[in-house]
Amino acid sequence: MAYRVLIADDEERMRRVLAMVFEEMEDVKVATTSCSESTLDYLEHERTHLLITDLKVPEMGRLEFLRAIKDKVPDLPIIVLTAYGSVGSAIDVMKEGVFDFLTTPFEKEILKLAVNRALKMSSLAIENKYLRQELESQYDFKNIIGNSPQVIEALRLVGEVSKTDSTVLITGESGTGKELIARAIHYNSNRACGPLIVLNCAAIPENLLESELFGYERGAFTNAEKTKKGRFELASGGTFFMDEISEMSTAVQAKVLRVIEAKEMERLGGTETIKADSRIICATNKNLEELVKVGKFREDLYYRISVFPITLTPLRERKEDIIPLGRHFLKRFSTKMGKSPVSLSKELRSYSLRISGKGISESCRMLLKGL
Ligand SMILES: Nc1ncnc2c1ncn2[C@@H]1O[C@H](COP(=O)(O)OP(=O)(O)OP(=O)(O)O)[C@@H](O)[C@H]1O
Ligand SMILES: [Mg+2]
Repeated sequence: MAYRVLIADDEERMRRVLAMVFEEMEDVKVATTSCSESTLDYLEHERTHLLITDLKVPEMGRLEFLRAIKDKVPDLPIIVLTAYGSVGSAIDVMKEGVFDFLTTPFEKEILKLAVNRALKMSSLAIENKYLRQELESQYDFKNIIGNSPQVIEALRLVGEVSKTDSTVLITGESGTGKELIARAIHYNSNRACGPLIVLNCAAIPENLLESELFGYERGAFTNAEKTKKGRFELASGGTFFMDEISEMSTAVQAKVLRVIEAKEMERLGGTETIKADSRIICATNKNLEELVKVGKFREDLYYRISVFPITLTPLRERKEDIIPLGRHFLKRFSTKMGKSPVSLSKELRSYSLRISGKGISESCRMLLKGL
């Protein structure tokens, strides 16, 4: 595939110098324009992967021109050329979301490096967008936001595993979307019409965990006045999402393993064998392999549940997802509060990049506070 680069500059000499650089680059086709009208017209009609421009046009100001471009092709990477000594105004331009800027006169090699980086990003973004559209047409992933390679890969895995009955282990730091992914697997599987039963193992005291999991017969213990079904049984025909799986004693782990393996169990105090035909999805923010090493998690259970692992990446390692997530939550909360849609200002956009080390909820709280 050839990349299409547009050089927009009012000086003929500059257009020639720039075009010469590209003659040495394989797979790049160059076009040139010399005024705002022809540039905007070209971008509207021709698929372009990169724009190189000094943004100087007689008809309008630099920022105005840039915004007009962004309006037409929001994802297009732009390299802005700026005269040495006017870096200050280049920073204003950077805030509007241009990819890079170079001071003129530039060195050929530096321009080539910047171009290669921009084209790589452009093709990755296009590829991700395409993959996402493909996945979205098959599954309903609209509420899972993100176009980063990590999110696309997680969605691909969800699509793959949804078609099977395999046990899934979702790992990732707090807030990375483990429950969101577990729900997506269930609702995209052929068990979608069955129940989705969720149990957070950390939220139930150890002595009650067993009766929650396996249920009990009437009279099984002092307060057992009537028979109660356990979560394994309730999830039959559907999916059982066991959250915070590390927070179980090794004794309970042994019993859970038996149910997962045999797909049957007895209620506490019961003798009748009950079918427990559910797909199991487990999640944890702990490193289970480490827990296995120190004897806190049973190795056999670990191998049984980790047949199909999905690891979710924290937001700080996929910063490109921050702004789409920010927009998503603003839209959601504006609707919920009955307010007209609010958009992210450019200050908030750069602010959100600075706070990207925090978790999603924290970032959103700060974004909302900033409004
Ligand atoms: N990619 C995403 N797109 C949209 N919303 C997301 C995404 N990732 C996380 N969220 C939202 O962030 C919040 C936390 O997600 P979730 O509860 O699934 O995380 P978790 O990994 O289970 O966290 P914890 O370990 O704290 O239980 C939820 O409101 C969820 O909808
Ligand atoms: Mg969770």
